[in-house]
Amino acid sequence: MHVAILKGRGDFAEWRDPARAYLMAGVEPERIDWRTAGGEAGLFSDAPTDLPAPSPDIPAPNVPAEFLTLSQAVICHGDPARFALLYRLLFRLARDRNVLDMRADADVAQARRWAQSVRRDCHKMTAFVRFKEMPLPPGVVGRRRFIAWFEPDHFIVARIAPFFQRRFADMDWLIATPKGSIIWDGAELLTSDQPAEKPDLTDQTDDLWRTYYASIFNPARLKVKMMMTEMPKKYWKNLPEAALIPELIASAEARVIDMAARAPTIPPSFHHKLRVPLPVQEDPAAEPESLEALRAAARVCDRCPIHCNATQTVFGEGPAQADVMIVGEQPGDEEDLAGRPFVGPAGRLLNGVLAEAGIDRGKIYMTNAVKHFKYEPRGKRRIHQRPDKGEVDICRWWLTREIELVKPKLIVATGATAVYSLTGQTSPLSQMRGESAMGNGITLFVTVHPSYLLRLPDEHKRAEELARFQQDFQRIAAISRGLPG
Ligand code: URA
Repeated sequence: MHVAILKGRGDFAEWRDPARAYLMAGVEPERIDWRTAGGEAGLFSDAPTDLPAPSPDIPAPNVPAEFLTLSQAVICHGDPARFALLYRLLFRLARDRNVLDMRADADVAQARRWAQSVRRDCHKMTAFVRFKEMPLPPGVVGRRRFIAWFEPDHFIVARIAPFFQRRFADMDWLIATPKGSIIWDGAELLTSDQPAEKPDLTDQTDDLWRTYYASIFNPARLKVKMMMTEMPKKYWKNLPEAALIPELIASAEARVIDMAARAPTIPPSFHHKLRVPLPVQEDPAAEPESLEALRAAARVCDRCPIHCNATQTVFGEGPAQADVMIVGEQPGDEEDLAGRPFVGPAGRLLNGVLAEAGIDRGKIYMTNAVKHFKYEPRGKRRIHQRPDKGEVDICRWWLTREIELVKPKLIVATGATAVYSLTGQTSPLSQMRGESAMGNGITLFVTVHPSYLLRLPDEHKRAEELARFQQDFQRIAAISRGLPG
């Protein structure tokens, strides 16, 4: 009997080298006892793996590429039986290259299940790692540093490390797990297979995650089973937003009933002909000379048909001489009812990101490219509809006057409609993202609209895009700090 002792922490070469030696010596799977150091073979952890000499009659193994991919995933699985399973498959493949095609074969099926479980674990890690910023020691200048804690099921740390390096290349970070850690300092990626201790990681980013999660949670679409598959309970303890889940589920039914009761009654299409005529500006061409006069004039705007079904004009708000102006697309359902911009789900997400970047919303002038809510009635719900170019062109008159009166030095355009209204450009947002000069000494900063983040169905993509949005606002904060006083 041969005894092979491995650390068994996801290192493929550690298994491959002895496996190749046993194979080339013709050792049958039943004659190898694969053990993990520190596991059931703790006593043997320092003993060398005994490797037989290769037999001259056995050629070097040539396995299908699919086996390599499969075994590199399976080796990360936490079950100690994985080494023996892979060797059995390797031994059989050396005699029949088509073994992996036998999907019903017990070994093949087991290997595929384990590889799938490892891939799922990797996917969950990319979606559920939550970085926390570690302040630099006083007096130290350098890149921002982050730390995260995650508890994987399998030994996936080294396998997933390149993903995090690619995705978060521009900051320094450490991801600690009970199954090893990854460190990136902008130059070198280091992985360790040593178990780490859970650090204490609560900070105000947790509130942001909770705000975000509460915003995207739609009680009317709740499917508890699917939710549990997407975000299994075992991950909850390290996800700040998970604390909200029991209450959100418990209150979902009542919220749906309440939403239905509060749903707007859609007026018949001819209602505007019947309603009391609004006071009309004496000279509609006259340009109001103050923001207040402009706001009053906008209240009765009927330049385009969107006003017909909207509750009211949602004009910009904020200091009359703000340095920074944020421009959105158009008011949503909640803004239409409240008469104020960015007070619904997108606004709540934006508020969290602003606060996290140290930007005081009270000092910003918030407005929209279009001042009325455009929607399509569906049952009792009002479904947001993007304003078309013609409507944005008509409404630009108001935005241009707002810019002339407020005189911002930095304008943040959130989303394609705002960009089109401000620049007339329709290039993809990805090409315009970031800062540029807009003329008249104004800096334009283009970013995505917060609703875009709220609509992303994929957890992992959403976390990534949220991080980019947060970075944009860190940059916006830096630009606004450097604006001339
Ligand atoms: N989306 C916007 O673009 N503006 C708002 O005011 C609210 C949601």
